[in-house]
Amino acid sequence: MALTTKHLLGIKDLTTEDIQLILSTATQFKEVLQRPVKKVPTLRDVTIVNLFYENSTRTRISFELAEKRLSADVVNFTVSNSSAAKGETLLDTVNNILSMKVDMVVMRHSASGAPHYLAKHINAAIINAGDGINEHPTQALLDAFSMKEKLGKLEGLKVAIIGDIMHSRVALSNIYLLKKMGAEVMVSGPPTLIPTYLKEAMDIQVEYNIDKALAWCDVANVLRIQLERQNQPLFSSLREYNLAYGITKNRLHKLSKEIVIMHPGPINRGVELDSDVADSPHSIILDQVENGVAVRMACLYLLTGRTQPTT
Ligand code: CP
Repeated sequence: MALTTKHLLGIKDLTTEDIQLILSTATQFKEVLQRPVKKVPTLRDVTIVNLFYENSTRTRISFELAEKRLSADVVNFTVSNSSAAKGETLLDTVNNILSMKVDMVVMRHSASGAPHYLAKHINAAIINAGDGINEHPTQALLDAFSMKEKLGKLEGLKVAIIGDIMHSRVALSNIYLLKKMGAEVMVSGPPTLIPTYLKEAMDIQVEYNIDKALAWCDVANVLRIQLERQNQPLFSSLREYNLAYGITKNRLHKLSKEIVIMHPGPINRGVELDSDVADSPHSIILDQVENGVAVRMACLYLLTGRTQPTT
């Protein structure tokens, strides 16, 4: 089987079958990652550049590890020590890199739509590693993989996405994916951080009361407050945010059931999520990070169209 798309720009463009294929292929790669030798020759002779125009810890390292586990040749680009800092355009930078015979580009950029722009101008396959406030498709895929691994299914699952929805590419990719896979989705947080168009445009529930959202859901995917993307104050203080919307041990104790806690990282501890919840047995945050490598191996492998994933 093959993906219906040449690039991975967003979950919006994927079919349900594409998502199922990526998740089942990731299961095979997760098995590879349990072996003493965690490496397969699948992408030998494939050269991949990781083009990061915005900071990253998890996504950048996870892609690099995935590429190395697949035996690809890897080149890393960070904007701060490149000629982009001298004013070179994105397209010039990429065309220069591609002229050195690069097959695939993994790109993170602060501008929404940057990888879509590149896809119109170059032949190499592009994976979006997060573009502005638009999409972060591999994060949503690893989140789905982790939910399915923990709870056995996606269909019918009640997932509350909580926090700074307005500035979150993780929220949008998760909403697209969960809806396509038959989950029920709710967003929750302060009204100033939830775009008003979302309820109707995406056919999801909106709940401003965090305790009601937690009582409803099977999984709470808690998002970081993205102060760097807020041009004006959208809530009174971090302390007040924690009191009104933070996921705390007290809030979870009041529930009549156990729920799974997720967060894409990095966490603002004591703001959107308290440490004793982030580090509790309810949390699968580090499982998400672990699964990211297998999921990204699956995406890289499927986009190159090679035929032997795990031997
Ligand atoms: N989840 C996520 O995208 O983390 P990084 O910004 O560290 O890559």
